[in-house]
Amino acid sequence: MSGWSDSAVVYEIYPRSFQDSDGDGIGDLAGITGRLEYLEWLGVDAIWLAPIYASPLADFGYDVSDHESVAREYGTLSDFDDLVAAAHDRGIRVVLDLVVSHTSIEHRWFRERPDFYVWADGPEPPNNWRASFGGPAWSRDPVSDRLYLHSFYAEQPDLDWRNPELREAMSGVVRFWTDRGVDGFRVDAVDRMVKDAALRDDPPAAEPFPLPMDPEVRKLDLIHSRDSPEIGLALAALRDAAGDRPLIGEVYLPVARVIRYLDYFDAVFAFDLLHSGWRVDEIGPAIDRSNEAGRVAWVTSNHDFPRVASRWGPENVRAAAVLLLTLGGSAFVYQGEEIGMIDGEPTQPHLDRFGRDGCRRPMQWEGDPQNAGFTTGRPWLPVVDPELRNVADQRIEPGSVLTLFRRLIELRREIHGSPRRLDAPSGALMFTRGRHLVAINLGAASVGVDVPAGAESVLVTDPRAACDGGRLTLPPHAAAVLGLPAGGGG
Ligand code: NOJ
Repeated sequence: MSGWSDSAVVYEIYPRSFQDSDGDGIGDLAGITGRLEYLEWLGVDAIWLAPIYASPLADFGYDVSDHESVAREYGTLSDFDDLVAAAHDRGIRVVLDLVVSHTSIEHRWFRERPDFYVWADGPEPPNNWRASFGGPAWSRDPVSDRLYLHSFYAEQPDLDWRNPELREAMSGVVRFWTDRGVDGFRVDAVDRMVKDAALRDDPPAAEPFPLPMDPEVRKLDLIHSRDSPEIGLALAALRDAAGDRPLIGEVYLPVARVIRYLDYFDAVFAFDLLHSGWRVDEIGPAIDRSNEAGRVAWVTSNHDFPRVASRWGPENVRAAAVLLLTLGGSAFVYQGEEIGMIDGEPTQPHLDRFGRDGCRRPMQWEGDPQNAGFTTGRPWLPVVDPELRNVADQRIEPGSVLTLFRRLIELRREIHGSPRRLDAPSGALMFTRGRHLVAINLGAASVGVDVPAGAESVLVTDPRAACDGGRLTLPPHAAAVLGLPAGGGG
């Protein structure tokens, strides 16, 4: 299991918000195809499409009602084939989101194949498991009067991967898409695929779960409701169906607990980094833990959490870009991060019940304050600030965040070797990778750093950064990549 994804830059497209081609205010597949020229110019190796399948949108596509279809508002299977062919022509691979731990309650399987789901009988839920979005993880089906399990919304019943026929059906889904030329998969909610067979209670937690989560869920030690020791029975089936195409796992667990998933996955997301505060004593250890875990996919934002500019501060977007794109492994860039987009203020009413609309606002292609070049109609969510941040302006501006992203994506092809963290002055993070040294000032004060004599600046995020006579000066929030003299690297 190693291949094209190992050090790839994968660009996450949230299809609803990327580019509309027919004026209905909702992004679509033809819109994505029309923007491939941009993605090739940016230099990404692959695109990951968040779910494109038919869905009643209880969880905006993560409630799939037909895994072998394209949602009507996104286009047709023929549009999908066109997108894959056009992407491949430009050397861009296509990664789909496999939503396999649950379906929509409107999936035909829920009625036709109840044995594909997890059920319980009796007046009360059989255990204390909680749904990630709040409330009990069990709801009553009014038709059968039985309780069904749902790790997320009640509209998303959990599949039973212990059932070999379900495994075969889902393997068929994987093959359906690989036959259409899909190059790999991001696999959703992997840690929920298999749970305790005896449905035992989760015991109370000694300390809260270390990643952000519903407060009630965090009070439990999540050892039975997810992350079963028997997860291999499910993952082996997926691995088999995907062949040598990369599988990237979304395992929402601290990185130390994801290592065993690497028996089946090419990489797993390193959420410890995403959820670190912008401080050396949080980011540094998160990187170290992730590197110890092995093949991680680095990610600093996605469609579920506040964007980098909103979480770590707009002043840090350049330094954060250097971090994401120099760490080694694969790097996942969420659409809009390359122009430093910020989250939109909450709109009323919420479309996403879990409050994630802010990071899902439309991509800002141009400065038009109404639609940002995203649509000719009315965007499904309002645009944030296209006058301040848009692709068209930043593409021609040498000092823009976009120019920096493009240069970093180009530069990372020359950076090789495992990361080795170095001691650094307070507020700074430093590591070497082979013949390169990366120095990032996370703080608001200037820092001076001793570097090997002969080190030369290859990239700086701030023109005031200087490397001279074995001393690198980094202004506040700045980062630099240096080339080391022979024998000076790690
Ligand atoms: C993780 C996805 O990224 C998120 O958007 C979704 O709500 C849950 N999995 C459930 O599918």
